[in-house]
Amino acid sequence: MESLKLGALEVWPPVVLAPMAGITNAPFRTLCREQGGGLFVCEMITTRALVERNAKTLKMIRFAPQEKPRSIQLYGVDPVTVGRAVHMIADEDLADHVDLNFGCPVPKVTRRGGGSALPYKRNLLRAILREAVRNAGTLPVTMKMRKGIDDDHLTYLDAGRIAVEEGVSAIALHGRTAIQHYGGTADWSAIARLKEAVPEIPVLGNGDIWSADDAMRMIAETGCDGVVVGRGCLGRPWLFADLAAACEGRDDRARPTLGEVAATMDRHATLLAEAFGNEQHAVADFRKHVGWYLKGFVVGADLRRALATSSTLAGLREGLAELDAAQPWPDGADTPRGKTNPRDRVHLPAGWLDDPYEMAVPCADAETDTSGG
Ligand SMILES: Cc1cc2nc3c(=O)[nH]c(=O)nc-3n(C[C@H](O)[C@H](O)[C@H](O)COP(=O)(O)O)c2cc1C
Repeated sequence: MESLKLGALEVWPPVVLAPMAGITNAPFRTLCREQGGGLFVCEMITTRALVERNAKTLKMIRFAPQEKPRSIQLYGVDPVTVGRAVHMIADEDLADHVDLNFGCPVPKVTRRGGGSALPYKRNLLRAILREAVRNAGTLPVTMKMRKGIDDDHLTYLDAGRIAVEEGVSAIALHGRTAIQHYGGTADWSAIARLKEAVPEIPVLGNGDIWSADDAMRMIAETGCDGVVVGRGCLGRPWLFADLAAACEGRDDRARPTLGEVAATMDRHATLLAEAFGNEQHAVADFRKHVGWYLKGFVVGADLRRALATSSTLAGLREGLAELDAAQPWPDGADTPRGKTNPRDRVHLPAGWLDDPYEMAVPCADAETDTSGG
């Protein structure tokens, strides 16, 4: 297996932590990065908020000192604003890599022509990529997308060719359409087709990698140059140790006991408290992780509830101390976790599908209220 080449940047193993809004902040990235190498992408930020130097946004793109390479994912709909945001990142040395998000399926985003609705407008996509690459200097620019809006409106092959023509360094494909949201299974054959369509640049496969063996299978089946792992590592940062081992041809796998999991939970919440500078906020944010960390372990309902409703670090630690530390890693922990729901329709602006070549720039509020991929 070869390292992943994004412009001048070399990444080994060829493994990427998927950007996940509300999850892949510096504390979570740190926990994952300690387990194994790869590229660990920050939470998505909007280009408008960045160029306006929104205080919360500037805080979200802070990296821990050991984080190298630093990777920022941007979401934007206006070529000019995207160009300004990328220029700011390059000029002020805010990151080593920029990824552009065209995969968000959330109705309030697609309704305004953003996210996974955007690649349908080929010329708008091209203009955004062109401005991003033109302003990036030596930084590699990559894009992340879905297959299309639905099976009748697939866009990924056109988008892939446009990306190559505009100088994008790699493409990540989540093998679902927008209408699928997180339902059904990811179509890995689309990743193989994209790989054939854009032999010039690396293709990263994404969707439904729940174990290192899944990652190896995706690479073998699709020929992709690397993998992007999202929900599989929720509550499981040590999946990155497994991925590194598998890429090096080893079959040892991390199987932490419940005591080791509890120590990681403590550390995660503590890092969040340091990063947020606010213990209450951090412990509240950590609640969503509790179920993922405990998935598959035998833990009584009362204790689970107590852990998921703690409001202080001391309270959380009291609950963690009650866990059966010797309990071994459960079989079946490699199963799906996180969002799994499909949608019945994709909300789009009126007439959006009429002309794929219309140069329509969505209004600026297409960037508000975005919540990820
Ligand atoms: C909670 C959550 C937040 C996400 N936020 C983003 C995001 O900000 N940017 C993005 O490109 N994708 C985002 N995604 C999509 C993931 O990056 C990934 O493409 C998707 O989960 C499929 O990969 P998986 O099957 O490995 O989870 C998000 C997914 C989840 C579950």
